[in-house]
Amino acid sequence: MSAVMGRLDSDLLQPEFVTMQVDDLDAVMAIERRIYEFPWTRGNFEDSLSSGYDAWLMREGARMLGYAVMMLVLDEAHLLNISIIPEQQHSGRGSAMLKYLLDFATEREVVRMLLEVRPSNASALAFYKHHGFVQVGERPDYYPARQGRETAWVLERTL
Ligand SMILES: CC(C)(COP(=O)(O)OP(=O)(O)OC[C@H]1O[C@@H](n2cnc3c(N)ncnc32)[C@H](O)[C@@H]1OP(=O)(O)O)[C@@H](O)C(=O)NCCC(=O)NCCS
Repeated sequence: MSAVMGRLDSDLLQPEFVTMQVDDLDAVMAIERRIYEFPWTRGNFEDSLSSGYDAWLMREGARMLGYAVMMLVLDEAHLLNISIIPEQQHSGRGSAMLKYLLDFATEREVVRMLLEVRPSNASALAFYKHHGFVQVGERPDYYPARQGRETAWVLERTL
């Protein structure tokens, strides 16, 4: 009996991906502010949603594990935000989220995924490299920084 219950419980707790809504933004912003020194503003998320960008929450039961925002333009996908709550980082959650995004883009005949990342974000760089992204360019003075601004590296993965 307990084994059956255990299996049902774990089935129920499989992460699910649900479309982000404006009503989710209080919870999203609470995470965004915890994760980033220079977080997106609520307006950045609102603009993304009103512009029709694709955005999801990754949830396990009632708990939000992370979220992502992606913009599809013709045959390119631009990954604008991918974030996992600190307690769940480095346990495969980001990979599961990225796989969902890659599958979504592939179904829409996207041929490449692009993103910007801070060269100082070693953890994210390792994550993207692990998933086959390569640097294809840089954008000087792209990000706010403690002193002045920081260059963005542009990474790409062919689908
Ligand atoms: C970047 C992020 C989305 C990755 O998600 P994650 O759930 O932590 O990553 P995963 O557990 O799926 O890691 C997959 C692989 O990425 C690499 N990786 C991830 N974090 C790493 C780290 N700190 N150091 C080295 N490699 C790392 C590893 O190769 C790892 O594989 P392994 O676990 O077999 O070693 C997540 O850490 C995050 O939200 N970070 C803060 C927000 C952020 O920086 N977002 C990206 C902005 S561009």
